[in-house]
Amino acid sequence: MSKLDTSTESAVLEPGGDQPMPGSKKVHLRTFGCQMNVYDSERISESLAAYGYVETETADDADLVILNTCHIREKAAEKVYSELGRIRQTKDARRAEGRQTLVAVAGCVAQAEGAEIVARAPVVDLVIGPQSYHRLPELLFRAKSESRSIVETQFPDEDKFSKLPKRDRPRAASAFLTIQEGCDKFCTFCVVPYTRGIEYSRPVAAILAEAKQLVSRGVSEITLLGQNVNAYHGEAEAGGNATLAMLIGRLGEIDGVERLRYTTSHPRDMGDDLIAAHASEPKLMPYLHLPFQSGSDRILAAMNRKHTAADYVALIAKIRRVRPDIALSTDIIVGFPGETERDFEATLGLVEQIGFAHAYSFRYSARPGTPAANMADQVPEAVAVHRLHTLQRLLDKHQTRFNADCVGRTIPVLFERSGRRDGQLIGRSPYLQPVHAFADHGMLGRILPVEILGSGPNSLSGVVRAA
Ligand code: 5AD
Ligand code: SF4
Repeated sequence: MSKLDTSTESAVLEPGGDQPMPGSKKVHLRTFGCQMNVYDSERISESLAAYGYVETETADDADLVILNTCHIREKAAEKVYSELGRIRQTKDARRAEGRQTLVAVAGCVAQAEGAEIVARAPVVDLVIGPQSYHRLPELLFRAKSESRSIVETQFPDEDKFSKLPKRDRPRAASAFLTIQEGCDKFCTFCVVPYTRGIEYSRPVAAILAEAKQLVSRGVSEITLLGQNVNAYHGEAEAGGNATLAMLIGRLGEIDGVERLRYTTSHPRDMGDDLIAAHASEPKLMPYLHLPFQSGSDRILAAMNRKHTAADYVALIAKIRRVRPDIALSTDIIVGFPGETERDFEATLGLVEQIGFAHAYSFRYSARPGTPAANMADQVPEAVAVHRLHTLQRLLDKHQTRFNADCVGRTIPVLFERSGRRDGQLIGRSPYLQPVHAFADHGMLGRILPVEILGSGPNSLSGVVRAA
């Protein structure tokens, strides 16, 4: 197969033209990485449905395999290549039976590595970056009919969201809605500004329309997504720019939207109106994911985070003043280049001081093309691994304590799915903890008061009380 860069070409794939009948083709879609990829995969699946594709759980019976990939850390990116090795075997086995398999790599590895993917894994027919998903059916059709590998990693001028199909599938009670993509912060460890590009905010009207579609399909909780979601500045309905707080206000007016969340935020963009919304907007859940990355000012400066540890502490105090019960979550990196034992202790100290309900912690991973990858004093792996374990023990202790503090309270739970045990449902508390309770299947999608009787490191359990 030869390579073709389609950035300047376009061809249209007409639904219904020489396309298969609905349900006659199967797509196996594997999603790696963050919630934004989960959202993108849903939209990819919806756009392929218009061309007759239904989803299948395994690659063996798939006519099309799509890997929606993550590039944030080396491990995530490497997973893609081992997966492609397995897919090559499946493709060969299917070919021996006279069946064709198309293979596409989407997401941030696609964006970052482009044609290199095809060079390293010739099994790939299409490489497509996150800004081009509206062109996926067309490009797949071309890859198939022209028997070429296609690489599409441009940042096109057109808005992909306006070209994707409507959200008209029945769905679970909780849904993601991407409102912002990309990031201009350029933290020195992070690939996002390169893979997802500069910040882009969708217009308020388009977001409201999508939220209404979701509600009409059974959704009552919406999590607004963006790589730097609180930098949201989309076009307001009356012109000018809206802030995230304004958008939340408008979404809160929609009948049927019961709960709103947003993730992930940067401390510098935590505006006063957004903080105030945590007190004034009843549908906004008392949960905030606010990464601080390191407790050492020296490391924060080297990370180009644009805030100090004291700034973060002051910000949290301000948020807790308006919403004392807020559950705080964060991202932390250990082993950033130059991190000393003292710097790491500052991170532990900040964790102790704040007390997080939940956190993600990572060992620093050098990403090609980012400034930190070339910094001196890379921390030895064994040291970083040890620090990560120490940090995670502390975080687990705090999370367990936060959960235990809920015992005895009655809190509203949105039931989302069946549990493993007969008659058991699993829902989420306002603080995003999974809650197990025995309840009628008909309660799925409803918010009910649950008296919390038990807690563990990762979840709560309780009994439903009369509404
Ligand atoms: N190494 C380790 N963790 C990283 N993150 C982003 N880039 C890297 C990296 N190179 C973490 C940050 C960010 C989260 C999404 O992933 O903590 O907030
Ligand atoms: Fe990456 Fe977040 Fe920093 Fe943006 S703010 S560069 S997405 S870590």
